[in-house]
Amino acid sequence: MRKGWPFNAVIYQIYPRSFNDSNGDGIGDIKGIIKKIGYLKDLGVDAVWLSPIYKSPQRDFGYDIDDHKAIDPIFGNMADFDELVLRLHENNIKIIMDFVPNHTSSSHPWFIESRSNKTNPKRDWYVWRDPKPNGEPPNNWMSAFGGSAWKLDKETNQYFYHAFDEHQPDLNWNNPEVKKEMFGVMRFWLDKGVDGFRTDAVDYLFEDKGFKDEPINPNYRPGFHQYTDQELLHIYTNGQKESIDLLREMANILREYEDKFMVTEAATTLSELIKMYKAVDWHSYHPFNFSLINLPWLAAHHKEYIDEYEKRLGPHYLPCYVTGNHDQPRVVTRVGKKQARNAALLLLTLRGNAFIYNGEEIGMRNRKIPKDKSNDTYDLSSPGLGLGRNGQRTPMQWNDTNNAGFSTNEPWLPVSLNYGKVNAESENNDPKSFLNLYKKLIRLKKNNLALSNGDYVPLKITVRNVFCFFREYQDKKIFVAVNFGSKARNLNIVNKKGKVLVNSFLNRKDGELVDLSRLYLKADEGIVIELI
Ligand code: GLC
Repeated sequence: MRKGWPFNAVIYQIYPRSFNDSNGDGIGDIKGIIKKIGYLKDLGVDAVWLSPIYKSPQRDFGYDIDDHKAIDPIFGNMADFDELVLRLHENNIKIIMDFVPNHTSSSHPWFIESRSNKTNPKRDWYVWRDPKPNGEPPNNWMSAFGGSAWKLDKETNQYFYHAFDEHQPDLNWNNPEVKKEMFGVMRFWLDKGVDGFRTDAVDYLFEDKGFKDEPINPNYRPGFHQYTDQELLHIYTNGQKESIDLLREMANILREYEDKFMVTEAATTLSELIKMYKAVDWHSYHPFNFSLINLPWLAAHHKEYIDEYEKRLGPHYLPCYVTGNHDQPRVVTRVGKKQARNAALLLLTLRGNAFIYNGEEIGMRNRKIPKDKSNDTYDLSSPGLGLGRNGQRTPMQWNDTNNAGFSTNEPWLPVSLNYGKVNAESENNDPKSFLNLYKKLIRLKKNNLALSNGDYVPLKITVRNVFCFFREYQDKKIFVAVNFGSKARNLNIVNKKGKVLVNSFLNRKDGELVDLSRLYLKADEGIVIELI
């Protein structure tokens, strides 16, 4: 049985800009987070993941770093950070940091040196190429945010490569000095006592050494996003084989310490994920599984994917499911309120580590951001496609007072209009709220052996619009069923009885006895039953 951190943990992502503002400048900060530790404890999470708080020009809100070892003054200072770590640890909450290895900001001193001239010792720390004879970019590679991935530096007449925004030049991980410096960054934070990392954009770390053009995708339909919907097949810029070796080295750094952990962001195929697990030390490393975000919200798709994932992964490795993050529209916005409760139920009853994005636990939804207020680089680089991520980054809704209790001043993004009702304080007092559903599910995940440590056992039969599975640990058996549809269903699963531990509407009695040979599942209902 896997015990302790980082196994079967509930990890809460804090987007610091939008979590809690302590100094009234409209932007969340570290002291604001410290004030909410009681809330985190009450919610029952094991750890927080902090999106970047490093010194940054904030063009990509911290994913563009100027100094990896300094705190951006908008969030506070290093003393505040040390206090945060201390206070979280005192409350038995771990902390993992965002680690952004693929690129820096274009105002990072390394890049300023690198671009200063072709012979600068740091020139090779980034990816520079000559123009084609006609002056065009060296090849057809595209930025994930849209447009060419190459930007000409007029002074030195070479292009530099940026997988994301042009203000985020890619580091050259083939250069041993880059490696040494960036490994030093990891050790810096680990020495400070953080418990690990969420490592950003790992499938972009390396590019093909021959700089070959990427093939054109014959199935691409114009009008869709050039990069995400693959006008080109990204076979030379994404998921290169060197990245797995690098992840292995990173995981080994974590192993120099005790109980450290890294989860990586790579929106990749099931087979690639399995490969990543098997190639890297499982004690300290798991990749995210984004299926609860990316699959169409249909029972059959989830059953097929998760059954297959579990089968190929085996019980030894732990999945890392996640239902939302700062890059994805809110769950309620994607699938509606009732199904968002089911997403929570799945997230917290499936095997492995569960990641919750701040605000999902109260059922926040995206707010439409007026065009003139949009300042997300993704939106600005690919205008007109509605790709802005600000809608899911609006301030956390704490109560029904001004600015939802997030700040005493006008927040950096407008608060969602429903904060009068959807807020942590009023939901705390409503026994059937999202917040109370999350709290209950988190407690169950921790206290029920079959849920915390049990195997995932797929169901042989399929039930239309319903995804169900068992979790089993020794003689303990849990049955989970989620009705993805808006029609009630009668299930005949097995000739056994069980008692209800929780349902998604929180409107069944704890311990209600049910017969699994004729279980009535209401429309949109999810249920967790312990077999007796
Ligand atoms: C990751 C982050 C995203 C950021 C990008 C570039 O995908 O989650 O917010 O824009 O990397 O760093």
